[in-house]
Amino acid sequence: MCGISGIVHSENIGRNLFNSIRNLEYRGYDSCGMAMLRQGELDLRKNVGGIDEVNSLEKLDQMQGSIGIAHTRWATHGGVTQENAHPHLSPNRQFVIVHNGIISNYQELRERLLKNGVVFESLTDTEVFVNLLEESYSNCNDLEKAFLAALGQIEGSFSIVMLSSHDPDHLYCVKKESPLLLGLGEGCNYVGSDLNAFLEYTRKAVVLDDGEYVVLGKNDYQIRKLQTRELVEKKVLHIDWDVETSKRGGYSHYMLKEIFDEPQTVRQALKIPLGQISGLATMFTESSRAYLMGVGTTYYVANISQYFFSTLADRYYPALSSDEFSVVNVESGDMVLALSQSGETYDTKSSLEYAKVHGAQTAAVVNVMGSAISMMVDQVIMQGSGPEICVVSTKAALAQTFIMLRVALELGRMRQQITLDVYQEHQRDLELFPQMVEQILNEQSGFVRNIARATSHVEHWLFLGCGVYYPVAMESALKMKEITYQHAEGMPAGFLKHGTLSMVEPALHSLFFVPLPEQKDLHDRTLIAMEQVKARGGTVIGIMFQGDERALAVTDQAVLLPQMSALCAPMAQMIMAQMFAYYAALDLGRNIDKPRNLAKSVTVG
Ligand code: G6P
Repeated sequence: MCGISGIVHSENIGRNLFNSIRNLEYRGYDSCGMAMLRQGELDLRKNVGGIDEVNSLEKLDQMQGSIGIAHTRWATHGGVTQENAHPHLSPNRQFVIVHNGIISNYQELRERLLKNGVVFESLTDTEVFVNLLEESYSNCNDLEKAFLAALGQIEGSFSIVMLSSHDPDHLYCVKKESPLLLGLGEGCNYVGSDLNAFLEYTRKAVVLDDGEYVVLGKNDYQIRKLQTRELVEKKVLHIDWDVETSKRGGYSHYMLKEIFDEPQTVRQALKIPLGQISGLATMFTESSRAYLMGVGTTYYVANISQYFFSTLADRYYPALSSDEFSVVNVESGDMVLALSQSGETYDTKSSLEYAKVHGAQTAAVVNVMGSAISMMVDQVIMQGSGPEICVVSTKAALAQTFIMLRVALELGRMRQQITLDVYQEHQRDLELFPQMVEQILNEQSGFVRNIARATSHVEHWLFLGCGVYYPVAMESALKMKEITYQHAEGMPAGFLKHGTLSMVEPALHSLFFVPLPEQKDLHDRTLIAMEQVKARGGTVIGIMFQGDERALAVTDQAVLLPQMSALCAPMAQMIMAQMFAYYAALDLGRNIDKPRNLAKSVTVG
C-alpha cells in the first residue's frame, strides 16, 4: 500500500504537502516524491528512502507552488528505485500522476505504447497511464476528456490523482477499489488515500466510492460517475479524531505511544452503545452459520474471539485468515464478521465481497471511518481507537479484542448461557479494565524492559499458551517477528511435546502465557509444558500473575501481573507481550514504527 496526497490552494503549499505525506509515511516508506506546478511548469522531485531522507536530498518541503501532488511508496510492481518512485511525469512534462493499486492490463498497454515509440523510464504499471494521458490529450485537446479516455483503457484497482499544466487550478482524481477521500478546507481542498493526509488541516471529509472521479479546485469540486459522467451528491463527514492523538507526543516511537494510549482506547470501546453490541450479537443468533475473519493481527483477534464465544455463549464460530476464506462455502443465512483496523485490507475486503455475492450477511469491526470495509458491510462497529500510525497494531487490536468480548458476553446473556449475576459481574470487570491497563503499563514496563534487554540477542523463540492464551501467544509471536525480525513461533503449549520439543536447548527461549491459577485446567496444562521445557535445559520466561509460586518455580525470568478477572487476563498478557516486542526491537536498533518489508494495510492481493 502507498500514500497519496494532493492539495489545491491559493498560497504556497510546499511545506503542507510535505507534512501530509509525512503523516502517511506508515502506509509505505521505501521511496517518495512530490510534483508541483510552478509558473506553468511541472517541477518533480523524488528519490529512494524514507520521507526525511528524501527531503534532505531533494528539499521537498522547499518546493514552490499552490497546487501539487505527493506520494509515499511501498513497492509492488518494479523495485525500489528513483525511476520507479512516484509521481510519474509524462515525456512531454505536461502530465504528472500518483497512483495506488494495480493496473492489471499494463503489460499489454505497455507493449502497444512501445510499438508507438514511447520510451519508458520505469518498470511500474503506473507509467503507462501518463503516456495514455499524453496520447489521449493530443487526440482531443480537452483535459477532462483525455483523463476519461485514458481511464477507459486501464483495468484493475486504482486510485489516481493527476496534475497537468493544461489546467493549473484543478487536480483530477479517480477511485476504483483503492481508497481515496477528499478533505474540504476554506479556500483550499485536499485529496488523500486516507484521512491522515489532511487531518492536520481540515476535519471535513468526503469519501469517494468506486467508479467516481473528481475535478478538484480550491473552492469547488465536482464528483461524477465514470460511466455516465452524471454528477454525484455526497455526504460531508465531520471527523472527530483528535490530531494530537495521532502525533507521537513525548514518546520515542508511535508504537510505545500507542501502547500507552490503550487505557483510553479501551474506555472508548466501553462507550460503544450497548445497542450496537447487542445488534451484532443478534446477527449471530439469526445466522445459521457464522465465521470470524481477519488477517495478520486481526486474524489472531478473530481466534481470541472464537474462544470468547465458546466459553461465554457456548457457540463455536471458526476463525479464518481472510486470504484463505474462499475455501468456505458460504450461502444465504450465513454470516461473516470481519475485523480490520484500516478497513482497506485487500484480502479481507475481497473475502467479504465473496461472502456477499454468495448471499451471506456481513459485519465488521473497523477503526478507520469511511474505509471501504466499513461502508460495504451490513452492520459495522466503529471502534474509535483513533489513528494508529505504527505499522504493527497494538491499541486497535486490543480494542477489537475488548469489543469482541463485549459481543460474546451479550450473546451469552441472550442465549442464557450466563446468569444475570455473572453477566453483571463480568460487566464490572470490563469497566475496571481501563484502570487495570493503566496500572500494569505504569508498574510493569520497567520489568518488561529489563527482560527484553537481557534476551534481545535470542534469535529463536517459542511463544506458548493454552486455551484463549494460545491465540494470544500466536499474536504476540507475530508482533515479535514484525518488529524484531527474530524468529518467534506461536503454538499451543500442549502441542509442544508432539514434535517441537526436540529443538529445546538453552539457546531456544520459551515465553509462556501462564493463566491465572484459578483457571485450573489451563494452568495445569501450561505448567506441564513449562516443566517439559525446563527439564530439557530450555530457558523459560513467563508472563504470569502474582502469587503463582508453582509457575515461578520453573521460570528463569517472569513478568508478574496483579490479580485480575479471568475475563481480562488474556488481554493484559497481550499488552505485556506488545511491550516486550517493543523493547526487544529497541535494543536491536530496529525501525520500530516502520519495519522492513511491511505496510500498515496491504491493499493488494
Ligand atoms: C498488514 C499489517 C498487519 C495487519 C494486517 C491487517 O499485513 O502488516 O500488521 O495486522 O495488515 O490489517 P487490518 O488493517 O485489516 O487490520
